[in-house]
Amino acid sequence: MINKNQISILVVDDEEDIRDVLEIVLKDIGYTVFLAENGEKALEIFQSESPDIVITDIKMPVMDGIELLRQIKRENPATEVLMITGHGDMHLTIRSLKYEAMDFITKPVNVDILEIAIEKAIEKIVARQKLLEYTQKLELLILEKSKLADHLSSLGLMIGTISHNIKGLLTNLDGGIYVARSAVKSKDSKTIKEGLDLLEQAVDRIKKMVMDILLYSKERKLNKIAIDTKIFIENIKEIIEIKLKGTNIVFQCNDSNFPDTMYFDKEFMLAALINILDNAIDACMADTQKKSHEIGFEISRKKDQLVIYIHDNGCGMDSQTKEKIFNLFFSSKSTKGTGFGLYISNSIIKQHDGSIQVTSIKGKETRFKIILPHEK
Ligand SMILES: Nc1ncnc2c1ncn2[C@@H]1O[C@H](COP(=O)(O)OP(=O)(O)O)[C@@H](O)[C@H]1O
Ligand SMILES: [Mg+2]
Repeated sequence: MINKNQISILVVDDEEDIRDVLEIVLKDIGYTVFLAENGEKALEIFQSESPDIVITDIKMPVMDGIELLRQIKRENPATEVLMITGHGDMHLTIRSLKYEAMDFITKPVNVDILEIAIEKAIEKIVARQKLLEYTQKLELLILEKSKLADHLSSLGLMIGTISHNIKGLLTNLDGGIYVARSAVKSKDSKTIKEGLDLLEQAVDRIKKMVMDILLYSKERKLNKIAIDTKIFIENIKEIIEIKLKGTNIVFQCNDSNFPDTMYFDKEFMLAALINILDNAIDACMADTQKKSHEIGFEISRKKDQLVIYIHDNGCGMDSQTKEKIFNLFFSSKSTKGTGFGLYISNSIIKQHDGSIQVTSIKGKETRFKIILPHEK
């Protein structure tokens, strides 16, 4: 239960005697009391002291009780206002009802009735406070619940996407096995090779998907180490050149102007950059307009920043696609995509306190600029 001295009451009446009596009575009960002789003074005190309850005479000079009630309710609707009314104030009483006065006490003021009215007002204030607390708790609960629902739905979405992809991959595996088997029967070595290529592709994609899922599901701490930039670029070159075998896409890496060493989590950064390069390869393959295709990769140092540029002259993308590329599961490649790649690249680069900028022209090119702090 609320303590009485925590409750403050503002008494407004133009008659000094009434103010004095009410002050003595209310202080005696234990309330904190403020006094004012008209509506204007009352409003000043109301603004500086924010009393819980206001007891006001209805008829006063300067600003009457109704106007005071109206202004108080406008400033803080949670304030409870008791009106002191005289005989023949019926129409004023009705007007104050309209402005949500809590109760009426008729003159001459009976102290017992006043006490009961104040207690009722306090009950209302306490109830309102409780309601507010409950509402806040409820809001918190709802927030937690929606977080949980988000998590579950992203989990559901992930399982759906993965199952869909696995189904597609199984079809590829089946196809590869079928081609290879019938070719073995007819001893056609060219077709056997085609079947094996299909199998190899499917296995590669399964590998990549499993790696993506592993990276997505584990929240590993970064293991930053000193990396020899030259060797790192060589590693990337090796990986990409294997992927480019059989295509006529040219892969260009810079062989100078990079810092000797870089500090980051090698496994993660390699995954982040390969995801971006994989997309560049896909984009070049998807482009049927240009005769020759090129992917560029460059690491350079700008003051205390490490900047990595990756560009391709593949199919490019429109601005609507560009908006969504970092979203988990966003892919424009139907069964061939998972929509994991850039989501993971972005998370890894953010984890390294870096950022990615993308520019693209549909039908022409795409450029990724990755900015990382260059630590020594
Ligand atoms: N270099 C690029 N050129 C054109 N589109 C790109 C490029 N990189 C990414 N995108 C777009 O971003 C989407 C999301 O990429 P990603 O997250 O790697 O998923 P996925 O490759 O599985 O589709 C791609 O489906 C593609 O639409
Ligand atoms: Mg990708």
